[in-house]
Formats: sequence, structure tokens, C-alpha cells
Amino acid sequence: MKPFSKRMPRLGTENAFAVIGKAKKFEREILKPQSKHLVYLQIGEPGFDAPKNVNEAAIKAIRENQTHYTTTPGIPELREAIALSTVRYTGVDYKPEDVVVVAGGKPIMFYMINALIDEGDEVIIPNPAYPIYGSVTEYLGGKVVPIPLKEENEFNFSAEEMEKRITPRTKLVIINSPQNPTGGVFSRELMKKIAIIAVKNDLWVLSDEIYNEMVHEGEHVSIASMPGMAERTVVLNGCSKTYAMTGYRIGWGVTKNKEMAKYLEQLACNDISCVSTISQYAALEALTGPQDEVKRMLQEYKARRDLMVKMVNEIPGMRCHSPKGAFYLMVNVKQITDKLGITAAELCDRIMKEANVLILPGTVFGLFGDDFVRFSYVSTQETIVEGLTRIKNFLVPLMK
Ligand SMILES: Cc1ncc(COP(=O)(O)O)c(C=O)c1O
Repeated sequence: MKPFSKRMPRLGTENAFAVIGKAKKFEREILKPQSKHLVYLQIGEPGFDAPKNVNEAAIKAIRENQTHYTTTPGIPELREAIALSTVRYTGVDYKPEDVVVVAGGKPIMFYMINALIDEGDEVIIPNPAYPIYGSVTEYLGGKVVPIPLKEENEFNFSAEEMEKRITPRTKLVIINSPQNPTGGVFSRELMKKIAIIAVKNDLWVLSDEIYNEMVHEGEHVSIASMPGMAERTVVLNGCSKTYAMTGYRIGWGVTKNKEMAKYLEQLACNDISCVSTISQYAALEALTGPQDEVKRMLQEYKARRDLMVKMVNEIPGMRCHSPKGAFYLMVNVKQITDKLGITAAELCDRIMKEANVLILPGTVFGLFGDDFVRFSYVSTQETIVEGLTRIKNFLVPLMK
């Protein structure tokens, strides 16, 4: 066989999926015969179904035969609704033509990095972070320049450290607030500083705001709202998290840079032609219909967070701050890994095999996630109590 392209070995993946695959196998082959099951506290998607009105809109679209192609950047009504919703949290005067609808938030990463990065170009990426930013950068021959998110700064990075990392090859900075995997929310002060540095050094910014509605304390600040930023920023957002619509695959990029919008559209045209028409009508209902479900889900996430933070801090060797956003908890386990002489990944493996609970090691999200494990609090309060009780019972004797 002729070899695969030289790019392929550079393409990463979401290791979380590999961990889940391994856990499902363990559950099927080892636990099920003993009538036991795993408690999943690692899940990265909303713990709710899509709102009823959204599903009804999808069904209506099928009944009305909305089953044909649309234009690549999406149906005009949806682009308008997205522009309006983005105006609300950025204050930027976005118009429908600034919006490109794609199949989930993820493709915007692929398209924007594709539009910008040549071999050797550098991309500043927080660490730990969503793994696809780095994977796509390296796939395209770019260089990932990590910038640590530190627990003591509530997982904000330092603008000074960002500035130190800029070289003549730096082209793009990726930020994600509220953040996966830390739950950290960047402060207004930090956003201002990043914006000043980006303008001064003529940098592009990919601002992943997929969790913008999930701020439990404080405020969501979009970097696009800072002076000089709307033209150099693509705001990534979508329906997956806010409306619990992961399977609909609806996301978008919004930018005041016309050339960038054109390239995002062209890449989407080459890739998918357009997004499922049915999903687009569902998304239109999500954005323009009643928002009560969103409020209800948010309230419940907050209650789940408070429960989880309290219980985690009662487990010997585990400690965490209360995260301000998203639905993740980054828990420091250094005391445990030091005492047991194992890595965070080995600890997660033992917790899966011996306590029968699935959580993720911080290293799935980058090297600076070394001393941490990531929980998500999307599961019901009952499941959270069950999972954390199991972990506590497992760790208490080991930490004596
Ligand atoms: C930070 C972040 N951005 C983007 C995405 C992708 O969202 P989507 O499922 O809409 O592609 C995720 C999903 O987990 C995420 O955590």
C-alpha cells in the first residue's frame, strides 16, 4: 500500500473517547457479570434532553419537507437569530452576513485554523484545554505554544506570560471562557489585556464561547467586545451546550472580518455543503422560542455543582475551588498521587476498577493538567452522591 499523508500522524483526537471506550468494555466484560455498573462522572455533554419545543420544530420541518440543501452559511432566519443573540453578549453590531452556521462548534476550530496556519506558524493555546485546538494546529504543521492555566489564578492565564510567548511566527491565540476542562471564567481585566496584546501584535483570536450561558457567578465577557477585536476574532458558539442539542450538530462562527467569513464559508462548502436543514429549523426555535428550559437547566447545574464541590472537598486528598462556569470541576489530587506514588491517569484507572466510577485525568487536556482529575456535574444529584460516596469509601483507607 502507498503510505498515508505525512499529516496524518500529527492529527490528535479526543482521548476522553478512548477512556470511555475502555470503561465501557470493562463494564461489559467485568462488572456486568457481577450485576455491577459504573457511575459516569466524566460526561462532557448536557445531562438533559433537547427541549420539547425544539424537537417539535425538527419534526415540523420534516413534515413540511424541509429536507433539501440550504445555502452553505445557513438559512437567513437562523443567521439573523444568531447575529442577534451574539449582539446581546458581545455588544458588537453583528449582521446575518457575519454568521457561518456549521455542523457543531468543533468545525469552526478546524476551519479557522485551516484558514490561517501554514507550516511553522505558532498558535498560543491554554493548557489544559479542549484537545482539538492543538490537534488541528499540529495536523496543519503549526506549532502549539501552550500557556498554563493555574489553579491559584482560578484557571485564568497570565497576560504577561502570553506576551512572553509571542514571536514573529505567532498568528493566532485561542481562548475558551467559560472553560473546558477547568470551569474557569476569564475576568474582564484579563480579556482587556489579551485584546491589547492581540491588537499590538496583530494576532487573530479564536474565542470559543460555547459555554457562554453557563456562568454561575460573575459575568461572561466576550473578547470580541473589546476595542479593535471584532475584526480579528471569530466567536465560536452553538446549540450543543446551552440547549442540550449535541446530536443536532449545530454550531457557528461569527466575525466582522469579511475575508475570514468568506473562507469559513468556503471551507464549509468544501466539507459539508450545508448543515442539516432539519437541525437548522430546530436551532431557530431554540434561539427564538421560550428560554425557560435553559434557565431551568442552569439552576439545576448550579445545584449539582454545589453538591459536587462540597462532597469532593470531603474526600481525603481531593480539593477544588467552586468553578464559576461550564459544568466541569478540576480537582487537585496531588496529595493522593504523591502518597500512592502513581500518576493522575493511574489514579483514574484505579478509581474505575476499584470504586467503579469513571472520571478523567487532567492530562487528557494537556501536560499542565498533571496533578488534576476532571469531574463533570451534568449527572443527576443522585448519581453524583452515589459516585462520590464510592470514591470516598475507596480513598479513605488508602489515605490513612
Ligand atoms: C470547549 C468546547 N468547545 C467546543 C466543543 C464542541 O461542541 P460541539 O459538540 O458543538 O461541536 C466542546 C464540546 O465538548 C467544548 O467543550
